[in-house]
Amino acid sequence: MTGGGLPGRRDPGAGRSQGANPGFARGRRLRSTPAMRRMTAQTRLAPADFVLPVFVKQDVSEPVPISSMPGVVQHSLDSLRRAAHEAAEAGISGLMLFGIPAVKDAVGSQADAADGIVNVALQQLRADLGDELVLMADLCLCEYTDHGHCGVVTPAGVVDNDPTLDRYAAVAIAQAQAGAHLVAPSGMMDGQIAAIRAGLDSAAFTETPVLAYAAKYASGFYGPFREAAEGAPQFGDRSTYQMDPPNADEALREVRQDLAEGADAVMVKPALPYLDIVRRVADAVDVPVSAYQVSGEYAMVEAAAERGMVDRKRAVLETLTSIRRAGASTVLTYWAVEAARWLR
Ligand code: PBG
Repeated sequence: MTGGGLPGRRDPGAGRSQGANPGFARGRRLRSTPAMRRMTAQTRLAPADFVLPVFVKQDVSEPVPISSMPGVVQHSLDSLRRAAHEAAEAGISGLMLFGIPAVKDAVGSQADAADGIVNVALQQLRADLGDELVLMADLCLCEYTDHGHCGVVTPAGVVDNDPTLDRYAAVAIAQAQAGAHLVAPSGMMDGQIAAIRAGLDSAAFTETPVLAYAAKYASGFYGPFREAAEGAPQFGDRSTYQMDPPNADEALREVRQDLAEGADAVMVKPALPYLDIVRRVADAVDVPVSAYQVSGEYAMVEAAAERGMVDRKRAVLETLTSIRRAGASTVLTYWAVEAARWLR
């Protein structure tokens, strides 16, 4: 019996696999109807689970499509404001802002310039929305440096840890001043959380939380982001500061270190290829855990769906469910608004 008929009654002789033992717990009993499955679902999705990453580009009057991320754009200031209102209406929790300046230099000056694109955008969004959404600022230099690395580099071309920390502290203060509710350092420099916390406190932003991209892997899945944020390294790669994909224990060490330095919440990134890490981190800590479903994860599903290989909505919701099931309380995803609308 696959439906209809008396609930709970099975046609005598209909294919049973475990019927011989009457006391046997049958998995299928609790899967029989959509309502039954809804009632017994262990993981639920809600709009408030999601944060939308957004890109804002200086000196454009129209949004610019990102070819490797169909449906995602580099916003103009105006289109970002509209998108932010839509996000608030959809009930998601927040935005993660990335700025793309017109001019880049060796130290990423536009990251902390008061009139830098990301800071102007933060000011406007805060004025428009107040506290309706959590405005988060990605805190890194790679979108702002001409060499595309996440920190300042030595003449030999090596990312220089400690001078980068001073830059991060300055950027954190500028972002908080501009209206960010929270800063999210993603550069993977050693000691960055302590430096940023000290910087924020020294400027009286003692109440601004730090969400640490604590376990951030050197991932091939950032590919489309390099187009979106125009931040591809001009030489070398990020493997000397981002984590090596084979390592898992190290993620816990990074997380513990960031918490010891004062992180208020932690993130694992990417999400899907690192669900084991999400689970281990979620089990190990008592702070909120975010997972970032990155550009390549988005592109992968979009490309397969476009070719008719997977059912788009079903695949998207399944990935989001899996990330929550692995233990993330918040999911950063380019599908945030669309998924939130599906769930209403
Ligand atoms: C900046 C940063 C990156 C992403 C988020 N912040 C790129 C990188 O580290 O190379 C990737 C996000 C995505 O792929 O969606 N450090």
